[in-house]
Amino acid sequence: MAIDTATYAVPLARTITDMRAQVSAWRAVGETIALVPTMGALHEGHLSLIDVAKAHGATKAIVSIFVNPTQFGPGEDFEAYPRTEASDAEKLAGRAGLIFAPIGAEMYPDGYGTTVSVKGVTNTLEGEARPTHFDGVATIVSKLLLAALPDCAIFGEKDYQQLLTIRRMVSDLRIPVEILGGPILREPDGLALSSRNVYLTGTERKAAGQLNIILRETADAISAGGDIKALTNDAETKLLALGFDKIDYLTVRNTKTLQPVETLTEEARILVAAKIGQPRLLDNMSVEFRG
Ligand code: PAF
Repeated sequence: MAIDTATYAVPLARTITDMRAQVSAWRAVGETIALVPTMGALHEGHLSLIDVAKAHGATKAIVSIFVNPTQFGPGEDFEAYPRTEASDAEKLAGRAGLIFAPIGAEMYPDGYGTTVSVKGVTNTLEGEARPTHFDGVATIVSKLLLAALPDCAIFGEKDYQQLLTIRRMVSDLRIPVEILGGPILREPDGLALSSRNVYLTGTERKAAGQLNIILRETADAISAGGDIKALTNDAETKLLALGFDKIDYLTVRNTKTLQPVETLTEEARILVAAKIGQPRLLDNMSVEFRG
């Protein structure tokens, strides 16, 4: 194969070999390369990660688009996950230097037998709700990083536990890539942008917009000295009253270890995963420590 410059406005590589050829050509002329791993269905949140990379000094951005089967559990939405390559490519025009959109066998060769598994930070929250998820994420992200060997790679803070997991993995495996976090982008009512928001019906969408507001109020009340357990319980009750079906967790955690925080003695993170209709919405934000 070769890099395809005809299909989309942005050059497209389907194989690791082709992507590496482009990376080498860029390296030869001194470019600084960023990788933005995605599963496609791109929205402004993804595009903002390219801006983070550029603000950090990257001169070329590779956006990978790959719906990674190993990070979906049984009964999750792997088949239904939106696949919108052509419109994704349009959104990337003028922003990305290369799209890397491999087919499955390129990332998971026949008979593959290697999994990357990160312990510690994955043992809670999403790791409890989705026991195989982070092995899938760590495995694909390590493959993507080793395939491209960019200068930096950027991940959204919306998946805060994923960002911590990737930082741990890159540090443990000594992968020579700088990991950057991108702030959460939000709709006008504050709903965190997510490819899965398309699953929300009209009434669910309205209730979903309250999630960040309740989280913000809870974080502020905790910063002001309120009781963490009482306030997080109240927030769960409010969400259920609004029509959320199930709260997997709404909890205040240490920003690095994700261990539960019972009393605020430093900045912490409040994180939520809540199901409404089909989607399970994630959000998180800082809980300021005011001493
Ligand atoms: O955050 C995502 O979209 C995915 O988990 C990632 C990092 C692209 C790995 O498949």
